[in-house]
Amino acid sequence: MNNKKFDVLVVGELNVDLILNKIESFPEIGKEKLAKDMTLTLGSSSAIFASNLSSLGAKVAFLGRIGNDNFGELVTGSLREKGVDVSCIVKDSHSNTGATIVLNYENDRAMVTYPGAMNNLNINDITKDALSQAGHLHFSSYYLQPGIRNDVGKMFKLAKELNMTTSFDMQWDPEEKWELNYDEVLPYVDIFLPNEQEIQNLTKENSVEEALKKLSGRSNNIVVKMGNKGSLLYNERKTNYKKPFLNTEVVDAIGAGDSFNSGFVFKFITGADLIECQEFGNLMGAINTTAAGGTAAFTNYPEIIKTAKEKFGYKAK
Ligand SMILES: Nc1ncnc2c1ncn2[C@@H]1O[C@H](COP(=O)(O)OP(=O)(O)O)[C@@H](O)[C@H]1O
Ligand SMILES: [Mg+2]
Repeated sequence: MNNKKFDVLVVGELNVDLILNKIESFPEIGKEKLAKDMTLTLGSSSAIFASNLSSLGAKVAFLGRIGNDNFGELVTGSLREKGVDVSCIVKDSHSNTGATIVLNYENDRAMVTYPGAMNNLNINDITKDALSQAGHLHFSSYYLQPGIRNDVGKMFKLAKELNMTTSFDMQWDPEEKWELNYDEVLPYVDIFLPNEQEIQNLTKENSVEEALKKLSGRSNNIVVKMGNKGSLLYNERKTNYKKPFLNTEVVDAIGAGDSFNSGFVFKFITGADLIECQEFGNLMGAINTTAAGGTAAFTNYPEIIKTAKEKFGYKAK
């Protein structure tokens, strides 16, 4: 660890999730349907990552944009409850806090997102002062934040100039255009964390192997998340496959990738070797699937490790 105020600064999108459950049938134009159950909660994969990293015991600060409204209060309140510092979060007076409406059915989900203030996060928000407070920078959800898209390389470069370590999960592109000039970004990213579909879409290749080959020599470490198949670690032209801590009673996999990231980065900032980081990433991805949503399984370090030992036979180092 380091002597900075925070171990990790998370830059990313923030929104609430309004989840409607037990809906009598699918929506139809011109008709009204009833849902028997509703949850209003902190959404966004960056927030899941920050919360779970904090629950593991790291000192985490968040930088993102919210509106000056009730949903914004819910977002900051929920992060604070998880021990995440919210003093770098920017309140946008021209936009509302983002919101995702989730229509949750037994085997499927339909979602509509209003991005709101997350559209406006920009490079001027990422001040040297904010970066200097932390030893590590994590950025997530590239395609959801158009205001900073063209400056992500600049942000990571600045972080490296400040001697920070860095990680990046670009996440899914809702427009499915996959425009990202990775040669401007990946040289400044220590750990790139896509899933297997995302890395193929980014590189326009039809296999993970080809995608990794294409990025070889243009990136540092790449970790490919592969759902219930585990993960791959790629560095120095070598691939290390790690099988998952398989959960056969999955509640849901919402946030599994973000939890994987939190496990990986948690070990990485302590200076653990990358194989150990990968194993702990897999473990936290698996832990995530034992409870509903992305954060419920993450209480505190001793509880998490207890579940890991009991459910997955994990042997703590
Ligand atoms: N059913 C499962 N059992 C055990 N581990 C899982 C399961 N599903 C996901 N994981 C773990 O979580 C990680 C991230 O999940 P994944 O779905 O690949 O991420 P993303 O949400 O980014 O697509 C996987 O690499 C794996 O280690
Ligand atoms: Mg993901």
